[in-house]
Amino acid sequence: MRIVCIGGGPAGLYFALLMKKLNPAHHITVVERNKPYDTFGWGVVFSDATMENMRRWDAATCDEIEQSFSHWDDIELRFKGRRIRSGGHGFVGIGRKKLLNILQARCEALGVELQFEAEVDSDLAYPDADLIIAADGINSRIRSTYAEVFQPDIVTRPNRFIWLGTHKLFDAFTFDFQRTEHGWFQAHIYKFDANTTTFIVECPEEVWRAHGLDSADQDASVQFCEQLFAESLEGERLMTNARHLRGSAWLNFQRVVCNQWWLRNANGSHVVLMGDAVHTAHFAIGSGTKLALEDAIELVRQFQLQGDTPAHIPDVLARFQELRRVETLRIQNAAWNAMEWFEVCGTRYCDQLEPEQFMYSMLTRSQRISHENLRLRDKGWLEGYEQWLAARALTAAGGVDDSSAPTPPMFTPYRVRSVTLNNRVVVSPMAQYSAVDGIAGDYHLVHLGARAMGGAGMVFAEMTCPSPEARITPGCPGLWNDEQMHAWQRIVQWVHEHSDARIAMQLGHSGAKGSTRRAWDGEDLPLPDDGPEPNWPLVSASAQQYLPGVSQHAREITRAEMDVVCEEFVAATRRAAAAGFDWMELHCAHGYLLSSFISPLTNQRADEYGGSLDNRLRYPLEVFAAMRAVWPGHLPMSVRISAHDWVAGGITPADAVEIARAFKAAGADLIDCSSGQVSKRQRPTYGRMFQTPFADRIRQEAGIATIAVGAISEADHVNSIIAAGRADLCAVARPHLANPAWTLTEAARIGYTALAWPKPYRSAKAQLEAGFAREKAQQAPPPAGGFPAGPTASRGQP
Ligand SMILES: Cc1cc2nc3c(=O)[nH]c(=O)nc-3n(C[C@H](O)[C@H](O)[C@H](O)COP(=O)(O)OP(=O)(O)OC[C@H]3O[C@@H](n4cnc5c(N)ncnc54)[C@H](O)[C@@H]3O)c2cc1C
Ligand SMILES: Cc1cc2nc3c(=O)[nH]c(=O)nc-3n(C[C@H](O)[C@H](O)[C@H](O)COP(=O)(O)O)c2cc1C
Repeated sequence: MRIVCIGGGPAGLYFALLMKKLNPAHHITVVERNKPYDTFGWGVVFSDATMENMRRWDAATCDEIEQSFSHWDDIELRFKGRRIRSGGHGFVGIGRKKLLNILQARCEALGVELQFEAEVDSDLAYPDADLIIAADGINSRIRSTYAEVFQPDIVTRPNRFIWLGTHKLFDAFTFDFQRTEHGWFQAHIYKFDANTTTFIVECPEEVWRAHGLDSADQDASVQFCEQLFAESLEGERLMTNARHLRGSAWLNFQRVVCNQWWLRNANGSHVVLMGDAVHTAHFAIGSGTKLALEDAIELVRQFQLQGDTPAHIPDVLARFQELRRVETLRIQNAAWNAMEWFEVCGTRYCDQLEPEQFMYSMLTRSQRISHENLRLRDKGWLEGYEQWLAARALTAAGGVDDSSAPTPPMFTPYRVRSVTLNNRVVVSPMAQYSAVDGIAGDYHLVHLGARAMGGAGMVFAEMTCPSPEARITPGCPGLWNDEQMHAWQRIVQWVHEHSDARIAMQLGHSGAKGSTRRAWDGEDLPLPDDGPEPNWPLVSASAQQYLPGVSQHAREITRAEMDVVCEEFVAATRRAAAAGFDWMELHCAHGYLLSSFISPLTNQRADEYGGSLDNRLRYPLEVFAAMRAVWPGHLPMSVRISAHDWVAGGITPADAVEIARAFKAAGADLIDCSSGQVSKRQRPTYGRMFQTPFADRIRQEAGIATIAVGAISEADHVNSIIAAGRADLCAVARPHLANPAWTLTEAARIGYTALAWPKPYRSAKAQLEAGFAREKAQQAPPPAGGFPAGPTASRGQP
């Protein structure tokens, strides 16, 4: 085959050499616009795993790289005058120039033709080529030429960065954060050869402009960075090698994703994009070169598997695209989280978190590295952090830190007003539709009682209604009469007597989503016309029909009715206090009555309760304030909100911060951060812990404690959420339906034995713990010389 690689970066060169090695009969040319030893950039990093992959494909290249690379294990944070270091992260750094030189020499040795200082204007310049590799980098001309086919999606990110070098040597991958009068800057620093270090400086666009860096030339920019990071540089200079760039040396990262990766051009040659031309990954995760090299490996592997003749090319390219698209999207997602963390850290984390917690948050920024993964990397550091966190939690809860053993963050106490929860897990409110006339009966006693004994710090009662019309279904419990209050009192007393758990009430009004069947008879469907239970009329902030063409029509609630509903909430709150509940939550989420006021999708009112967010919040805040006035001052109140409507024009996470601020000002102690269920047009992005970013943002930006909820299903999730300060409590719902003793089980699973079990259950504790310990021992890595299992396999940038 005749193959032309446009671009002599890592992708083009590595593909050329592997393909030539696969079959020396191929005629392969690499065309590069730069001189052989002339390139931009300083060092690049990849993980140990990338090196292993490369070794399998060409040991000679790998040996050369290994002779030239810098290997290090530690990450060091320099922040607010502190230096914090953790180990076990396993990186390899190499100069970009050195890497390219190794690849160039290997290409030459294998017989690849290299043409330097040759600018390619078009793929059509090679009419004889069977295959053209467009490895022409992030600004790929070939991708632009065929943009209609490749359909690139290019997102330009808000931060500015400059890629510099220095001869100051650092013995760890170092992150240095510096505050200026206009905001925070951070430097990503890593040594890549015996005397040179990469020094990337990054900050938000507005901070960059405020310092006048938009009009600074390269020398002025370098000087600015030298002064800012003088303490780390200890007198060494910073250097730039981006003189080839026109205009500012400060760049914005561009995330590239392409829908189609290959085509057949007018000459009949196949053209395939590779490396940065087809996808980019932010340097916060350091994987761009790795992706480029792995593209090359996969394409050669497909030729090896399917055959390396021109006739095989279409099938090879189709399979290449299929496999690499998925893998690169996975890495891009992780890189996206890490990149966003660095974009918002100046406003969200730097001023809010103490250095210890900031370090933890930074290490887990991509959400690929969990709590237990950090333990595998550096047990000593993690246990030290656990102790630090536990001591602070104990002090905040009014206790004394007398334990020498580290406590997992999940099992640290949490105090708010006069209430102390034993740990950070709460059983999330879950409607059971099993009440009769709004009375919580034996079913609720057994259901909530079992979960209270299951180890969670607190159990939430399901959404309970202040009037019969406020119910979702005829099976929902209420608090509109004293008989209902006494029924709840029995349950509360049982929980207090037989468990260490606290118990919370959640009050809500269903609004336009009321008068429906029990979930198992058809969720959200109106009651059947011929059934024993008649439908009742619905009210909402504005007239609406929740399920178009299906639900009953709700009419706009009048001002007078709003007063009545508010009084009903107040009366129910008094009854909840009389029943002995420890905690009150107001349900302002999921499209129910109060939520329908907050979301612009469901509130079109023309009075002072519609329009701006302030207006839309007015009624929910009125209800909250009226409840707070009668709810005992020593007991906490939380508010559940939908922090994202997942519909264009609906509530966004930025709005959620404002909503949280308003409830905080009204006296709320925590915001319970759910999302969605406001409109059937919602398009949520599900995934593990998918709503936790809302809890995190609200906690840091509105300065109020939060409850994270949604797809939190392992102790590891709870530990990393609490440890990183993304929330104060974790609400766990469905896992508690499957296993009432979820918290006891998870404690045993992670080997935490200090959690007290209900006395009558104690004989089961040791047995469960022993079972998990045995399971763990069986999964343990093989003895020295073997390959580590699980998370250690993915060492490298967190
Ligand atoms: C600040 C920063 C830090 C980074 N850090 C890391 C890191 O730590 N680890 C990591 O893995 N990656 C890192 N990267 C990303 C990495 O540099 C790229 O992902 C990688 O170089 C992609 O390789 P490539 O071969 O696809 O493209 P490139 O390396 O960009 O190579 C493309 C080549 O094509 C040539 N070319 C372009 N157009 C033409 C034309 N028309 N004619 C002839 N030649 C042409 C260019 O001169 C260039 O040599 C970083 C990037 C930046 C900006
Ligand atoms: C059966 C069931 C009933 C629910 N009822 C309520 C409720 O009464 N009030 C409420 O705020 N959320 C309710 N939810 C939502 C949960 O509290 C929780 O936010 C959601 O299930 C996501 O958590 P998970 O992934 O741990 O299940 C309910 C969820 C389920 C599964």
